Order: sequence, then C-alpha cells, then structure tokens
Amino acid sequence: MNGYDETDIPEPDRLVAPGADGEDTAVEAALRPKDLGEFVGQEKVRQQLDLVLKAAKQRGATADHVLLSGAPGLGKTTLSMIIAAEMGAPIRITSGPAIQHAGDLAAILSSLQEGEVLFLDEIHRMSRPAEEMLYMAMEDFRVDVIVGKGPGATAIPLELPPFTLVGATTRAGLLPPPLRDRFGFTGHMEFYAPEELERVVHRSARLLDVEIDTAGAAEIAGRSRGTPRIANRLLRRVRDYAQVRADGVITREVAGTALQVYEVDARGLDRLDRAVLEALLKLFGGGPVGLSTLAVAVGEERETVEEVAEPFLVREGLLARTPRGRVATPAAWAHLGLVPPQQAGGGPRGQQGLFGA
Ligand SMILES: Nc1ncnc2c1ncn2[C@@H]1O[C@H](COP(=O)(O)OP(=O)(O)O)[C@@H](O)[C@H]1O
Ligand SMILES: [Mg+2]
Repeated sequence: MNGYDETDIPEPDRLVAPGADGEDTAVEAALRPKDLGEFVGQEKVRQQLDLVLKAAKQRGATADHVLLSGAPGLGKTTLSMIIAAEMGAPIRITSGPAIQHAGDLAAILSSLQEGEVLFLDEIHRMSRPAEEMLYMAMEDFRVDVIVGKGPGATAIPLELPPFTLVGATTRAGLLPPPLRDRFGFTGHMEFYAPEELERVVHRSARLLDVEIDTAGAAEIAGRSRGTPRIANRLLRRVRDYAQVRADGVITREVAGTALQVYEVDARGLDRLDRAVLEALLKLFGGGPVGLSTLAVAVGEERETVEEVAEPFLVREGLLARTPRGRVATPAAWAHLGLVPPQQAGGGPRGQQGLFGA
C-alpha cells in the first residue's frame, strides 16, 4: 500500500468505480465514521443494529452474527468496524477469497478471543468446505478439526469462545440458505440519497481540512452515484483542482469545472457510460440493439459494457435491457440533449411498444 501523495496525478482509471483502489484504501481509514452516531444515513440498518448491539451489551453477551449486504462502497466494512467498536471488542478481518481451505478457517476460528468480531468480507466467495465448517462454528461455537488422512482420519471437536461473525456480501442472493439462516440479523444497505451524500462530503471535507460550501458539497454529492466511497474520491479530486486552479475553496463552480475536467458529468456518468449511451442513441437510434453490436461500436469488451457501464445506466433509468436488445429511455435522450427520431414516422422499430406513446 503506497502512501497518498497530494501532488500525485490520480490514476486515470475510473473515478466513479465503486470498488476501492490503492489510494482509497490508504485514505479511507481516516474518513471512516467510528461509531453509529457518526455513520450517515442507512436509518433502518442503523436503528436495528443499534438495538441488537445495545441489547447484547445489556445482557453482557456477545452480539448475534450480522450479515451486511449491499453494493460496493456503501459502508459494509465501516459498519463492521463500528460493530466491534460499539461492543468494545477486537476485530479480525479476513475475506472469503482468502479462505481457500477449511483449515485456513479453522486456524482463524481457533485463535479468536471471547467476544471478538470476525469480519468476513465477500463471504459469498468462500469455499464450500469452509462454509460447512462455518455453519457449525456459528451455531454451536465448535469446529471439528480433521487429523490424519484417508480412512484413518479422525475429527477432533474443538470448543470455540463465543464470537460475533460479521459477514459482508455484494451478492446476498448467492449465499446458500443454510448460511443466510445462521445470521441473527441481516442489514441491507441502500444507495444513499443526495442529501445524505452531502453530509458525507461535508464530514470528509472537515476531516481533510478542506473548505467547501453547501452548493459545492451538493454538486459533488449529485455526481457520486449514491455511493459514499465515490463521493469521497470525487471530493479528493475536486480538492486537487481547487488547490491548484482556484483558491482552495470548493464552490459549486469549482466542483463542476473540476469534475468536467475528470469527465464525470452532472449525473455521475463517466466517459465510458456516456460513450455507451451516445452509441446507442446516435448510431442505433435508441435501439433495440444487441449487446455485442453495442460493445463493438464503443470499442469495448462485451463484459465491460454489460458489467461496468450498464448497471448504473439501468439503475438511473437511462437504458433498458429487453429481450430484443438494449433500448434507450426518453431520459437518455434528454440527458445527452438529443432529440429522439420521430416516433410516429418510420422511427426505430418498436419503441412505442416499450415505452408507451
Ligand atoms: N454511512 C457513511 N457515512 C460516512 N462515510 C461513509 C459511510 N459509508 C461509507 N462511508 C465511507 O465510504 C468509504 C467506503 O466505505 P466501506 O465501508 O469501505 O464500503 P464497503 O465495505 O461497503 O465497500 C469509507 O471510507 C467510508 O469513509
Ligand atoms: Mg468493504
């Protein structure tokens, strides 16, 4: 992990990617809310979790296992750390992909202290044997350690101290029901409202010692795709711009101009998103057009268009996936400032049928 150098030009990777890059990892620790009170938004999850944790504390017990599901960058890792902090417990952090063999998990479980929080990120990517070991550990605080090989192998039961498993997943649907059922509490993280992201931006600006006004924070929040991680990343890029080109203060104008430089538009679409929409509108009259054709038109892999660009376009109601191909919605035309071809005349086939007159 390399340190964050303010003079660095940022990786021109993808400013609106929801996953963490190296720089995020380096600075996120400083921006993470430390307790439930500081955690912005997610009212429902926060209240429910607050009750679960308070009740456990009152009983002097270890908190129930918690499953957190939601898109990347919405605060799952942050919440897991908050759970440990609220319980006054140490936290051990690992992830599904890091646990290849049941033995890896046995080693972690058998070294837990009483009350410790075990954070298992990307829990849906754990191996099947490890998963089965986890069932027993979660339910009975016990694991069977297999000693020896073949017919002579024996299982030695090992008692575990009570612990709290916090599992995080972006794909709750991929979890086998027996695993899902062993969590006492499941929190579904939602995308954040713009006002909530505004609060995230103000809070982060304060921690980063950056001056920002209300309109500046709103401008960044509106382009952050409902995701705090993206809001924090855009804030850092806008800060760079404000420092070099403006007098260091982030206003609406500074934020807007900076994000134009970084090609993040008013709705949070980046170059790739816009290229896909533009091809769909300008080359194919709004569709329907097949994914492969669309991908060739923008010079990207099918997977890139389907998995990187489309989910957000669909979520924003700009693009629809239909059995006959990709179709632009009226909002897409409006967003790019284009006029759809006459629908009554020989416009592109079938659009009326899909979106009404
Ligand atoms: N509710 C929130 N309030 C304030 N900041 C948040 C919130 N949720 C996430 N963040 C910020 O967003 C970043 C990413 O959050 P993280 O917990 O790593 O997301 P996830 O684990 O879901 O991918 C963190 O640096 C954190 O500071
Ligand atoms: Mg995480």
